[in-house]
Amino acid sequence: MKFDDVILGRRSIRGYKPDPVPMSLIKEIIQLAMRSPSSMNTQPWNFYVITGEPLNRIRAGNTERMLAGVPESREFRRGEPFAGKHRERQIGVAKQLFSAMGIARDDKVMRQDWVMRGFRQFDAPVCVIVTYDRELHGADDAAFDCGAVATSLVNAAWSRGLGAVINSQGIMQSPVVREHAGIAEDQVIMKSIALGWPDEGFPANAVVTERKSVDEATVFVGFVD
Ligand SMILES: Cc1cc2nc3c(=O)[nH]c(=O)nc-3n(C[C@H](O)[C@H](O)[C@H](O)COP(=O)(O)O)c2cc1C
Repeated sequence: MKFDDVILGRRSIRGYKPDPVPMSLIKEIIQLAMRSPSSMNTQPWNFYVITGEPLNRIRAGNTERMLAGVPESREFRRGEPFAGKHRERQIGVAKQLFSAMGIARDDKVMRQDWVMRGFRQFDAPVCVIVTYDRELHGADDAAFDCGAVATSLVNAAWSRGLGAVINSQGIMQSPVVREHAGIAEDQVIMKSIALGWPDEGFPANAVVTERKSVDEATVFVGFVD
């Protein structure tokens, strides 16, 4: 695939076929992703790639704790809840997804069902937990580098016909992930990526999200043209 086709074609995938993904293909994708730049080439990232029973235990643990109202516990700073234009964009993508899935605004049951789907990693056959070396905890560069590698990973996956969605839902109950994935103590859990073969018939997979314009995002300085 051409670079533009990957970048423009990739969408977050939230509905998967149950078919397994070969470990060799996941290795290939991670190898591509790890060509990402990182601060001083520190490469602070690591990956726990989970499937089968351990992943089912994580799905069950996440579901149980979320339904029981256990407060979320992430291992990094979260910041304030979204407000203003960020909240508007968050609502914008939710509206697009609910509309594609035919979930009405006041349908609390289906909305809850959708949210729980995220905590089950969208029933994907594979989940990749991105972690970083604890000795870099507190350095924002480590989080930045994890973002770079995660973005490369989902693009590499897309170039091989695989779908993915980077998500926070999978790591909101970090102790569950830590236990069942056997995350080493010297690793901080950063983010989760659901991975698998896209279910073409799953309506939310067709959603193309909006972007602000280049003019809105960019200040050009010193240009004459
Ligand atoms: C850091 C991060 C966290 C995310 N968390 C979630 C999540 O918890 N649940 C979800 O459904 N999507 C999640 N997403 C996916 C975003 O909603 C999605 O990337 C965004 O709406 C743009 O859509 P696109 O990926 O289809 O281009 C997350 C993405 C990123 C980068």
